[in-house]
Amino acid sequence: MHGFAYRHGSLHCEDVDLQALAEEHGTPLYVYSGNTILDHYRRLDKALGSIDHEVAYAVKANSNLSVLKLLAAEHAGFDIVSGGELFRVIKAGGDPAKCTFAGVGKTRPEIEYALKQGIYSFNVESEEELRYLNEVAADLGVIAPAAVRVNPNVDAKTHKYISTGKSGNKFGVDFDYIADVYARAARELAHVKLRGLQMHIGSQLTSVKPFVEAVEKVAPLATHLKNTYGIEFWSIGGGIGIVYHSSLESGSPSWWAAKPEGERPLTIEEYGAELLPRLQHLGLKILLEPGRYIVGNAGVLLTRCLFEKHGTTKTFKVVDAGMNDLIRPALYEGHHEIAPVKEPGEARRKVDVVGPICESGDFFCQDRELPDFQPGEVVALMSAGAYGFVMASNYNSRPLPAEILVDGSTAKVVRKRQTLDDLIAGEV
Ligand code: LLP
Repeated sequence: MHGFAYRHGSLHCEDVDLQALAEEHGTPLYVYSGNTILDHYRRLDKALGSIDHEVAYAVKANSNLSVLKLLAAEHAGFDIVSGGELFRVIKAGGDPAKCTFAGVGKTRPEIEYALKQGIYSFNVESEEELRYLNEVAADLGVIAPAAVRVNPNVDAKTHKYISTGKSGNKFGVDFDYIADVYARAARELAHVKLRGLQMHIGSQLTSVKPFVEAVEKVAPLATHLKNTYGIEFWSIGGGIGIVYHSSLESGSPSWWAAKPEGERPLTIEEYGAELLPRLQHLGLKILLEPGRYIVGNAGVLLTRCLFEKHGTTKTFKVVDAGMNDLIRPALYEGHHEIAPVKEPGEARRKVDVVGPICESGDFFCQDRELPDFQPGEVVALMSAGAYGFVMASNYNSRPLPAEILVDGSTAKVVRKRQTLDDLIAGEV
């Protein structure tokens, strides 16, 4: 389910007309389909139904309190990367005992906060961090539950900035040395309980092969750690990719960009069918840390066209959203379909859609054949539910956009648009 479709000539999110939302709340505006989020979570949870498992939503993908609340009500787990994310999860009614805490650089206040809240596991990324965790736990007189992240040296075949499982990346402990790290920890670190093993090879994987390769390589290690130290879980990370070229419920309109060679959805059914037989016999609880799969196609960013500018070689559609609102095209060459909210006619133009920011990297597409929308019209940047608002900034002193959560025919403001006063709050 994707929750976005044209109805009566206008793009809708579930039963809500996006044009009406843009008129009422202004643009740029993030809009999320709550039922799509729930559908994705439930499908993944169901696909793993035959084994002991937990879906720990990667909060970093979209950390709006109301989004977290939807998942907390489903009794989801949460994968967090900061004290701030733990705070959000707790505020949203999530259970700290279902939280795993990832990241290469946790600070003492963050570790203390998470220990006091009783999180499920610290997923540590180095032996140095494990020793530090032991020290902080000793100071508090508690035992810290921990898993070490293994770097399996597998090529995830994704954009270089979101590939994490190769030995040149900063993440995790090298596959060849990790058994020794567990052995030393078991001998020397009295305030750490070795509870699990973790890995995450990268994000936006559209083939199941790298997952299979990593699971096959690491499974014997997981068995060894279970038999030797009694670990109870193995988190195989997140990374399930979505198809950015197809995010309308009714299928892609003819004017959407052609899918790049080989891009097809990595279905949950295929993911489950390939991985479950390789995990089932281990007798470990399997954790997943999906972010993008749950929320990516469940959100759009609405923006209004301000001007059509004719350069000597190009036509630019200048819109009111910028790279500060959605940075994925600038940072990862991310592709987002651009859909006029008013259902377009036949006319096509090759254009660049650009924002108002003073940077050449501030574009949403370049030289793309699009339906010919006019200044004043609203367009939707599709598949913006993951790593959209959470990566937005105040660059160029632009207030952050509002966020709306849709449930059927109800649309609720779940974060107000920032005001000019918000921009300078805390400054002197
Ligand atoms: N677990 C760990 C340890 C991670 O580092 C990440 C993502 C996830 C889980 C969730 O991955 P997902 O299921 O969402 O692929 N901003 C980038 C993506 C950065 C991903 C960072 N880590 C983008 O917009 O493509």
